[in-house]
Amino acid sequence: MSGLITMDDLTNEEIIAILDDAERLLPVAKGELYLPLLQGRILGNLFFEPSTRTRMSFETAMKRLGGDVVNLGDVKTSSVVKGETLFDTIQMVDGYTDIIAMRHPRQGAAQYAQDSARVPILNGGDGAGHHPTQTMLDLFTIRQAHGRLDGLKVVLAGDLRYGRTVHSLSHALTRFDCELVFASPDLLRMPRDIVSDLEAHGAKITETEDLYSMMKDADVIYMTRIQKERFSDEDEYAKVAGAYKLHANDLNDVKANMIIMHPLPRVDEIHPSVDATRHARYFEQAFNGVVARMALLCKLLGVSVPKNVEKEGSAF
Ligand code: CP
Repeated sequence: MSGLITMDDLTNEEIIAILDDAERLLPVAKGELYLPLLQGRILGNLFFEPSTRTRMSFETAMKRLGGDVVNLGDVKTSSVVKGETLFDTIQMVDGYTDIIAMRHPRQGAAQYAQDSARVPILNGGDGAGHHPTQTMLDLFTIRQAHGRLDGLKVVLAGDLRYGRTVHSLSHALTRFDCELVFASPDLLRMPRDIVSDLEAHGAKITETEDLYSMMKDADVIYMTRIQKERFSDEDEYAKVAGAYKLHANDLNDVKANMIIMHPLPRVDEIHPSVDATRHARYFEQAFNGVVARMALLCKLLGVSVPKNVEKEGSAF
């Protein structure tokens, strides 16, 4: 069965259907309603790189739907340290589980895993490659705030070179005719092959180093962390560290309904003064990881989300 490796694995119609499923599952994600759609199913969490949100929200999503989870846990206490290959690890976990969520430092690792797995693989981030389940929760958050995805102006800011969340998200937003602004230091520009591909698909893109002048008519500002761990040269990192530091004082002229998003974790690119403004959406966005991943787990396991969740579920 095929999984979700990049956003190309979903049509626009499938994206909308999954977002609709996610919306109906909100009371289940919040723990207000019990609906064990995935009872008897097991998710394997294979995280070869650190994660808080992706790993925990997958686990929460599975458990809220009555399923169970087995974890590789800390790579240092697994047989990976004895030299076990990714191929062999996947052969084992494939037999133990019904679906696998995986994060790996190597770009292309999720596709490699899918090629030899019987069960669907959900790519939870492959190096500087893709992070499609993050994109689904990002799209859910944008639609929740603006009531639509089409035709919005979205500013993606920070580390566009190594940030896999913005790679996946910019592909999806192009398919919904959004106008994109890529704001980054020169060293961290969006990779040329991605820009070319987006433009070939009709993307309207502005590239700039000046984030602040692009905020006024934005519908969404999507900040990202500079991915220190992907730099081979610390001096290069030092040149761009702290490039953008969004403060509440920078938001005086923005649209009233503009939302600020961030995949998190943040370092210093969003000052805590922003948290109390009407624009901050990053903590709700992180919560939306549960509901988006619930809908994705159902989709890939072939389980229909009932149209009337309130009627099918039971109170605690
Ligand atoms: N957004 C995200 O991928 O967060 P984690 O690295 O904590 O999973």
